[in-house]
Amino acid sequence: MRILLTGGAGYIGSHIAVLLLGLGHEVTIYDNLSNSDRSVLGRISKIAGKTPDFFDADVNDSDVLEGVLRNQNIESVIHLAGLKAVGESVSYPLEYFKNNVSGIISLLGAMNRANVKSLIFSSSATVYGNPSYLPLDEEHPTCAVNPYGRTKLHCEEILSDIANSDSSWRISSLRYFNPVGAHDSGLLGDNPSGKPNNLAPYLMRVAAGTLDHVVIFGDDYETLDGTGVRDYIHVVDVAEGHCAALTELGDRELPFNVFNLGTGYGHSVFQMLAAFENVSTIKIPYIVGPRRPGDVASCFASTEKATEFLGWAAKKTLKDMCLSAWNFQKNRSF
Ligand code: NAD
Ligand code: UD1
Repeated sequence: MRILLTGGAGYIGSHIAVLLLGLGHEVTIYDNLSNSDRSVLGRISKIAGKTPDFFDADVNDSDVLEGVLRNQNIESVIHLAGLKAVGESVSYPLEYFKNNVSGIISLLGAMNRANVKSLIFSSSATVYGNPSYLPLDEEHPTCAVNPYGRTKLHCEEILSDIANSDSSWRISSLRYFNPVGAHDSGLLGDNPSGKPNNLAPYLMRVAAGTLDHVVIFGDDYETLDGTGVRDYIHVVDVAEGHCAALTELGDRELPFNVFNLGTGYGHSVFQMLAAFENVSTIKIPYIVGPRRPGDVASCFASTEKATEFLGWAAKKTLKDMCLSAWNFQKNRSF
């Protein structure tokens, strides 16, 4: 199959590209490189032994997108392109609505015109807001608590409406929990520019000595050790979830569906810190600070629906996540 990956040069998209190329699919990456760089293409090629086609362009340029869809004979799209930092979305909401919401409208218009109606969308567990029960299944009410979350919810609503209006669409929205880890080669991983917002890359940089210490955002939650609990999932498992979702999309009747991509298990901040210390054999200094506004105590997925319909389940352990992330951190000389 010929698949277009918008945002395919990013953290998750690059891992999906490697897997799809390995499965014999043809991959076109469409990315404006606003949060990635061209060198990732060479690294994808090095791992996969094949080079994806690449377009340096913005998803808001609907005509360019339409041309790429037509000229490359695209059959399915995986839409990862977008902005993802919660704090930044609070300061610059319009940028988030432009990239994430206008972006998907532009994409859907181009797909409609080019008659490509098979789409997988990168959504987030953030659409569940503050959990009213755990584990979070796909029936849990949705509620966005920040502009980033609102963009993901708006996108899901738009996708549901499009699918309702035209039953020839096949769309899956995948709600990722907390993707961490890296490719085993050490060539692909999470490499945020500036100070990381998320826990795993922050721990890596402290272990590597580029940051002094981690601030733990609160140790007074009602959890096993007082720190926040999240469902960390290996990025390669997330990528495999997309391959399973692509297969399922081709076989099903329902125009729109949503699936969680998580492991079903939660780990606390202290457990993550200990796991990273174990694999790196480096003591990671930390201080306990106040809670981060908007954080919830615990968040983890019900994985039943993905297992039943996609035939997919996460396989990798917390140790695999930490080892691969550390390997990527040590290898970061490219
Ligand atoms: P990333 O920033 O590494 O990758 C996103 C890519 O999209 C980047 O390469 C960037 O250059 C590109 N991009 C951004 N805006 C664009 C635009 N307007 N036009 C073209 N390209 C554009 O992020 P990621 O972690 O790989 O996340 C991919 C998707 O998954 C995002 O939509 C994100 O919201 C979603 N998601 C990520 C996480 C996570 O923890 N990483 C969790 C839940 C959901
Ligand atoms: C965050 C976003 C979420 C987004 C996800 C992936 C918020 C409120 N949520 O999820 O919408 O989909 O990233 O991009 O930002 N922690 C620390 N110290 C740190 C960093 C984090 O103690 O320096 C703690 C947090 O309080 C949390 C856990 O580590 O308990 C995980 O945090 P993080 O990696 O930022 O992910 P989420 O908050 O789950």
